[in-house]
Amino acid sequence: MALRTSRAYAPAEVVIDRSRCNNCGICTKVCNMTLSMRAGELIVDQSRLWGCIGCGQCVAACPEDAIRVEGRDFHTADSFPIPSREERADFQSLLKLFQARRSIRRFRPREVPPEVIGQIIDAASTAPMGVPPSDVSVLVFRTREKVEQFAADLLDSMRRMRWMFTMPGLLLMRPLIGKEGYESFEEFVGPLVDTYLEEHERGVDMLFYDAPLALYFYGSAYADPADPIIAATYGMLAAESLGLGSCMIGLPGPCMKNDPRLRTKYKVPKNCQPGLAIVFGYPDVKFRHAVRRRFAEVREC
Ligand SMILES: Cc1cc2nc3c(=O)[nH]c(=O)nc-3n(C[C@H](O)[C@H](O)[C@H](O)COP(=O)(O)O)c2cc1C
Repeated sequence: MALRTSRAYAPAEVVIDRSRCNNCGICTKVCNMTLSMRAGELIVDQSRLWGCIGCGQCVAACPEDAIRVEGRDFHTADSFPIPSREERADFQSLLKLFQARRSIRRFRPREVPPEVIGQIIDAASTAPMGVPPSDVSVLVFRTREKVEQFAADLLDSMRRMRWMFTMPGLLLMRPLIGKEGYESFEEFVGPLVDTYLEEHERGVDMLFYDAPLALYFYGSAYADPADPIIAATYGMLAAESLGLGSCMIGLPGPCMKNDPRLRTKYKVPKNCQPGLAIVFGYPDVKFRHAVRRRFAEVREC
């Protein structure tokens, strides 16, 4: 039985080049499904669990280039030289990048070049996912006009769903959303949507902050709900390293998930999971201090 995603129905094919393989067993340290050692020999067994999911770890680990994996969007040619220690960001440079990042809500009126958009998407695509191949899709709004249109469509959608945040709507939804959901809709989402709509009438883009680029990351019904969020976060950090500012925008997810008109326009499948939008652009604000943050709790168990 293969582990399904929206793009994969069967296990990937694993072929061992026996003329190269010296049965060192290194690949079995990274694969606990398909590969194992039996009597000192490497065995491929596609009947264990779901068979090969095409993660590529065996190809990445093999010192003899003796493993070929094809299928589930993995191709042996996708393996390339691993960046050296010297080339990789170390802890301090990563931490400094994280500490310097702030959500940006004011952008210069300058478009993000296509090659930079490509770099952000490339970096985001390296994110881990629940089950390969990735079931994350990305909608790219690469000019101010396109971002504006996306905002207008989302605000139309919010207008259509506004009844949900009225008292009768909230009471109707209460069994589904619980106490915290009820409070959040009543006190946060409802007033926020009203403000977005009012400001939009006045020509103010409170949703996307006049950003020149927006990416919307969403997952298929098969994806782990975390998949698009992790990919979006990678994209955000990549953008930071490229001198861009960004801000995550939560509301497009539920609108896209619940509004058939919006899904039809943007060709997003009915059973998609709510995703996350990020707006990007060159910052028109300079932060002078970093801000210390703490988790709600870090507890030894
Ligand atoms: C899931 C998620 C959704 C968010 N949605 C919005 C949003 O719709 N609008 C907005 O201005 N900021 C949004 N933010 C950004 C947060 O408000 C921001 O991260 C927070 O204010 C902390 O600021 P910092 O990013 O500068 O540390 C979102 C952040 C996350 C993680």
